[in-house]
Amino acid sequence: MQTGLRCAVVGAANIDIGGFPHGRIALQDSNPGRVILSAGGVGRNIACNLARLGIETHLVAPLGTDAFAGIVRADCAGAGVDTGLCFTFPGAASSSYLFIADLGGDMQLAVNDMDICLRMTPEALAERLDALNGMDAVVLDANLPQETVAFLAERVRPPLFADAVSAAKARRLLPALPRLHAIKPNALEAEALTGLPVYDRPTAEAAALRLVEMGARGACITLGERGVCCADRDEVRFMAATPVQMTNATGAGDAFTAAMVWARLRGMDLFASARAGMAAAALTVEAEETVSPLMTEAAVRRRMGENTDKTTGGYRHEQLS
Ligand SMILES: Nc1ncnc2c1ncn2[C@@H]1O[C@H](COP(=O)(O)OP(=O)(O)OP(=O)(O)O)[C@@H](O)[C@H]1O
Ligand SMILES: [Mg+2]
Repeated sequence: MQTGLRCAVVGAANIDIGGFPHGRIALQDSNPGRVILSAGGVGRNIACNLARLGIETHLVAPLGTDAFAGIVRADCAGAGVDTGLCFTFPGAASSSYLFIADLGGDMQLAVNDMDICLRMTPEALAERLDALNGMDAVVLDANLPQETVAFLAERVRPPLFADAVSAAKARRLLPALPRLHAIKPNALEAEALTGLPVYDRPTAEAAALRLVEMGARGACITLGERGVCCADRDEVRFMAATPVQMTNATGAGDAFTAAMVWARLRGMDLFASARAGMAAAALTVEAEETVSPLMTEAAVRRRMGENTDKTTGGYRHEQLS
């Protein structure tokens, strides 16, 4: 169902190519196995989830003129994400990630080629400002260069949200913190952003509060299967994740960010938005795919209801182990 709400996601779209050998990896040899190609990238994942949640979603990602660009566009079209605001850089290689897994499915060797993200300069994004300023919300991912993050923070007027992507890239969001409605780092990304260690409930609470002191209106630090720690200017809360049937955790954090934005657009406060995030993340962990085919507004609302403590009408709070 469409909500009439419009959102842009500015960040990376990626093609992942995974090699899964049938036997033990033999180096310097050709290994029989399966090769699986799929679309990914934090920005693309967030965009696909938002579209599934009924938000009119526009992806603003850099693409080359290679076959991968066509795959990204087709994948987004299938998910209901508009790619009309994506950039096409002639001759550039679209962002890609090539990995070989072992028999257990764990990555053993990988090459990532994300240089095209450097083409997302402030000058390039200046061409998209009018479109971005017509949205109800804009989401950034930290694959963007830091000067572009700073430029967008200064010039984009709708509520801004950001996903920190990785510990190595998280600090690129620092210039945007005072403009962010909410930021979603995981524990390692929160450490990189704040300089504080994050390993249990008190340290997560301290880091979430620090992110608010640094200027963010809201911070949700996700802590994997343990849950999430959220802070705004008035309050800090830890919310435990309910146990889920783990199938594939890839994309859980991106689904969290998407549902957090969806919930804010639907008028929920930061803490209810974090519950929406956890509900969407749980649906994602249960699915084989990076974006769950079962992701809908109704499914997220149902999950949120299940996670509410019926006796108090409030939320479950638990100690981090
Ligand atoms: N094993 C799990 N069991 C239950 N919930 C999980 C599990 N892993 C992740 N989650 C849920 O997903 C949310 C986000 O996960 P996580 O903190 O791992 O984000 P992330 O590191 O950004 O993930 P990603 O690798 O997708 O970027 C958590 O807050 C939690 O609600
Ligand atoms: Mg993440």
